[in-house]
Amino acid sequence: MGKKKASKLTKESTKGSEKVSEKVSEKVSEKVSEKSFQPEINLGLVGHVDHGKTTLTERLSGKWTDTHSEELKRGITIRLGYANTSFYKCPKCKPGFTTKDICPKCKSKCQFLRKISFVDAPGHESLMATMLSGATIMDGALLLIAANEKCPQPQTREHLMALEIMGLKKIIIVQNKIDIVSKERALESYKEIKEFVKGTIYENAVIVPISAQQGANVDVLIETIEKHIPTPERKLDKDPLMFIARSFDINKPGSNPLKMVGGVLGGALFRGKFAVGDEIEIKPGMVYQERNQQKWKSITAKITGLKTGNESVKQVVPGGSIGVLTGLDPSIVKSDSLTGNVAGRVGKLPLVLNEFKLEVHLLDRVVGSKEDLEVKPIKLHETLMLNVNSAATVGVVMNIKKKLVVCALKRPICVGYGARITISRLIGQRFRLIGYGVLKE
Ligand code: GTP
Ligand code: MG
Repeated sequence: MGKKKASKLTKESTKGSEKVSEKVSEKVSEKVSEKSFQPEINLGLVGHVDHGKTTLTERLSGKWTDTHSEELKRGITIRLGYANTSFYKCPKCKPGFTTKDICPKCKSKCQFLRKISFVDAPGHESLMATMLSGATIMDGALLLIAANEKCPQPQTREHLMALEIMGLKKIIIVQNKIDIVSKERALESYKEIKEFVKGTIYENAVIVPISAQQGANVDVLIETIEKHIPTPERKLDKDPLMFIARSFDINKPGSNPLKMVGGVLGGALFRGKFAVGDEIEIKPGMVYQERNQQKWKSITAKITGLKTGNESVKQVVPGGSIGVLTGLDPSIVKSDSLTGNVAGRVGKLPLVLNEFKLEVHLLDRVVGSKEDLEVKPIKLHETLMLNVNSAATVGVVMNIKKKLVVCALKRPICVGYGARITISRLIGQRFRLIGYGVLKE
């Protein structure tokens, strides 16, 4: 992974991170009762294609998140999958960690620990932008590494590097598919994993061997999550900021116009809270044409309903994916037209930028490809893919002055100065992660 550079990159990248600060949070678990519908933490599942992320999500939550027809046809995850579960502890068994309220072994009533939301990312190399948008809301992550394949595979490296760049510190390495390897291969795979993370901030990450398919050692994995990935302290009193991942019209074709409901926004709240009745602003907003040019204008809307999981609630805080029902004309939001937008209190969102000035930090090697390639310096007029929060845009390099690179954006983005933007470059047929930039004024 270009270790020396990787750890240097990490040190720089975690400085001034916007990620919420973390505290061990037995207290939070006390506050959030079993009846609370909203999960208190977002846990990502990342790693190379087919290493078992969706299988583990199902094992822990009971929900198979690949439901899209294309996903079923191709047998891979394409969209981000969301699933919730609750963790419990049996008062009698050891380790006794389970996702059931009645202990599967001794039938005792278990103690509720906390509600978790999983973000199941795709591992296929062509879906890096989706993984990056999911990673922006992860408070911690499980990196799945299949023991029957040599480690690291390209997206094992690329996903881990993306988490480092985004300043995510809490990860657990899950050595999966332990049921189909010999003891010798399991030990060899363990050594490969240790060697792979050496010199990175994840050097001391716990490695838990499991079989997601057979359910072996999953109780130990839950125990490790409880111990190593505490619920972050949330900034509830700050101005709310929601990253919109999807937007849709839920009315069936031909619905009675009098009974139609407004547009729905799907995504996650990064900070603050939203309540039914709040007036919100969405930026960059709606696209329109003016003299053959595409322009954007911000939208305001009233929140008419809120959802977490399948439950309707009056208020939402960060944790899990949320649905925001609005009074917007459904035609404005249909077919994910607002993906990549942000929502917040009217007048309190960051500026909408058509140009990014970035202080660029490049990796020394391309991490996501099979071949070992050097990352060449950024060139004038080259096209880069830029990702931040749930937004992705293409930027053309207009100016380079040492580490400062100015890019003209194809689509404007609403984001605050100081944010970290991941940078990918087209190499062969695919965009590959090559570094990150800090947004400057
Ligand atoms: P992408 O989302 O496409 O990156 O894949 P994924 O990481 O979600 O993998 P998925 O869960 O879809 O599993 C891929 C294949 O591996 C499936 O056939 C699973 O049944 C199998 N698999 C997952 N976990 C295990 C395991 O612990 N043991 C064995 N033997 N097979 C497993
Ligand atoms: Mg999957």
